[in-house]
Amino acid sequence: MLATTTPVISIETEADIAQREALLDLAFGRAARLAKTSERLREGRKPADGLAFAAHGPDGRVVGTLRLWHVSAGPDRAALLLGPLAVHHWFRDRGLGRALMSVAISEATRLGHGAIMLVGDAPYYARFGFDPALTEGLWLPGSFDRSRFLGLELRPGALAGARGLVSPTGDVVDMPSLVELMGQEEAAELRRSA
Ligand SMILES: CC(C)(COP(=O)(O)OP(=O)(O)OC[C@H]1O[C@@H](n2cnc3c(N)ncnc32)[C@H](O)[C@@H]1OP(=O)(O)O)[C@@H](O)C(=O)NCCC(=O)NCCS
Repeated sequence: MLATTTPVISIETEADIAQREALLDLAFGRAARLAKTSERLREGRKPADGLAFAAHGPDGRVVGTLRLWHVSAGPDRAALLLGPLAVHHWFRDRGLGRALMSVAISEATRLGHGAIMLVGDAPYYARFGFDPALTEGLWLPGSFDRSRFLGLELRPGALAGARGLVSPTGDVVDMPSLVELMGQEEAAELRRSA
């Protein structure tokens, strides 16, 4: 089936999260996507402010997703990690992936970020200027295919001489503390025994 109306791209909201997760499971497979090395840089972190995008189709459902994350490219070099990018198969080959990428790159530039890195299909991302030469001196925290580890400088020289491990630097997702969790358990136990 082919969709007929152009999806609208906006900043992702909490209401989009469940549908975004379902779209990513459909596009990549849940186990496979959570096993990716790039996921080690995203898990437990919030995406960069103003850089999590959702595309909504004509019925309001999420049909495209793209987020960027704060990382350090080696010691003390701020950069962004892009991904995952996914478009629902009904909406592919109509420029939505390109539109999400264009919005993400222009917003990241406007917000003053210097560089974006990603792990993905080089033939797709080359059209946006991503190049494996820019990440030659960098490593990811797990196994990765170097020909798929790509960089883009938003500010000339932002990745020049970058060397070392890429590590996550984004804000940590708020989680209840162990004490709070134990408190909830005890409260539930009290309710049960009342
Ligand atoms: C990759 C993806 C986001 C592209 O979305 P899209 O909306 O179809 O992209 P666009 O319409 O902007 O671009 C389509 C073009 O990209 C090409 N393309 C799509 N996926 C590609 C890939 N993995 N490698 C190379 N080229 C690719 C198409 O052949 C088409 O080429 P053309 O312009 O010469 O006809 C989408 O196919 C998808 O969600 N795939 C599954 C998840 C995924 O693999 N995501 C990340 C890629 S590493």
